[in-house]
Amino acid sequence: MNDTRRASEPGTDEARVMTLRIVQWTTGNVGKESVKAIVANPRLALVGCYAWSPAKVGIDVGELVGIGPVGIAATDDVAALLALRPDCVVYNPMFPSVDELVRILEAGINVVATAAFITGTNLGTQRDRLVEACERGGSSLFGTGVSPGFAELVAVTIAGICSRVDKVIVTETADTTFYDSPDTERPAGFGQPIDNPDLANMARAGTAVFGEAVAMVADVLGVELDEIVCESEFAQTTEDLVMASWTIPAGHVAGVAASWQGRVGGRTIIDLNVRWKKGTTLDPAWVIEKDGWVITVEGLPTVTASLDFLPPPDFQAETIEEFMAIGHIITAVPALNAIAAVVAAAPGIITYADFNLPHPRGWTRR
Ligand SMILES: NC(=O)c1ccc[n+]([C@@H]2O[C@H](COP(=O)([O-])OP(=O)(O)OC[C@H]3O[C@@H](n4cnc5c(N)ncnc54)[C@H](OP(=O)(O)O)[C@@H]3O)[C@@H](O)[C@H]2O)c1
Repeated sequence: MNDTRRASEPGTDEARVMTLRIVQWTTGNVGKESVKAIVANPRLALVGCYAWSPAKVGIDVGELVGIGPVGIAATDDVAALLALRPDCVVYNPMFPSVDELVRILEAGINVVATAAFITGTNLGTQRDRLVEACERGGSSLFGTGVSPGFAELVAVTIAGICSRVDKVIVTETADTTFYDSPDTERPAGFGQPIDNPDLANMARAGTAVFGEAVAMVADVLGVELDEIVCESEFAQTTEDLVMASWTIPAGHVAGVAASWQGRVGGRTIIDLNVRWKKGTTLDPAWVIEKDGWVITVEGLPTVTASLDFLPPPDFQAETIEEFMAIGHIITAVPALNAIAAVVAAAPGIITYADFNLPHPRGWTRR
């Protein structure tokens, strides 16, 4: 693992700070924005990129993400990528693979992931394989994203001004009509007949990473939970809903809401909610006034923060899909901001509970 010099030392400038060598894992929605952010950040150096899609193999990564050539071809040769001995893999595939992660971690390469990973407890006994791979390789694995991930980091940060914390509530609302990733959305119930009796189980399985986030928040708060439960609601579309790569027929689920609750003595003390809707023909007609997060810590005092986002004036977005890139940027960047801490961490699976707040360095325009 590389030694990273601390930029907080007086007199330190960007030129003296060692860069961290990064391999990017896939270039989908989130991965594309990750590559652009890595290339733009002088503290990070892109040295390789994994392509899951055969059609991307051999193509310059910059071309794949639309920024022009960067001199690095995407490859499916995992051994060659590991031989580069990067400080960290930025892991953004559609689904995590334990086999793939074990191979990376046991090679001594740290991983920051957005692929449905916070604590890894949902993996059951497979999690042990990851821990053992970290021990063998002296590496660390960390998962985040915007939600779950950064939103919970904000929640526990604002709890830092309370002398009493009664309940931590994060509520994500989003119109996901233009988020084109059906394979990650179907497992949560999207597109199913509204009367499918298995919907609650699907929502629980499809949003299970939020249960891991509940456990992480409890860990930061130093609370032992009795149980973590998921409550869900669904809305159907009353007309066929045609989207970029799929259609949800009338009478099928186009709205999914899940509330992941951590309880002690029957009292909910952590409540992580998502409410995702597609289109304008929902029944019931869920109203989502704006996409974003409302984060409340009930206690002494009760504190509320609202996390909204807007593009800067110079942001080039001619299509709604390009505008959607903002959602992918805010998913990718929390993982990138954690890299230095993850590289410096003791081997193992780590969460925000294990390290000091990441510093968003290197992102200011110069
Ligand atoms: N925590 C959060 O805030 C948050 C928010 C959004 C997304 N996410 C997660 O971040 C990850 C990336 O999301 P995304 O929208 O970027 O996904 P995506 O674009 O749908 O897929 C990412 C890439 O995964 C590869 N891929 C395709 N099918 C695959 C499969 N069956 N198994 C493994 N890899 C496959 C492809 O690689 P190529 O590039 O080689 O084609 C694809 O471009 C997902 O796991 C998603 O759930 C987290």
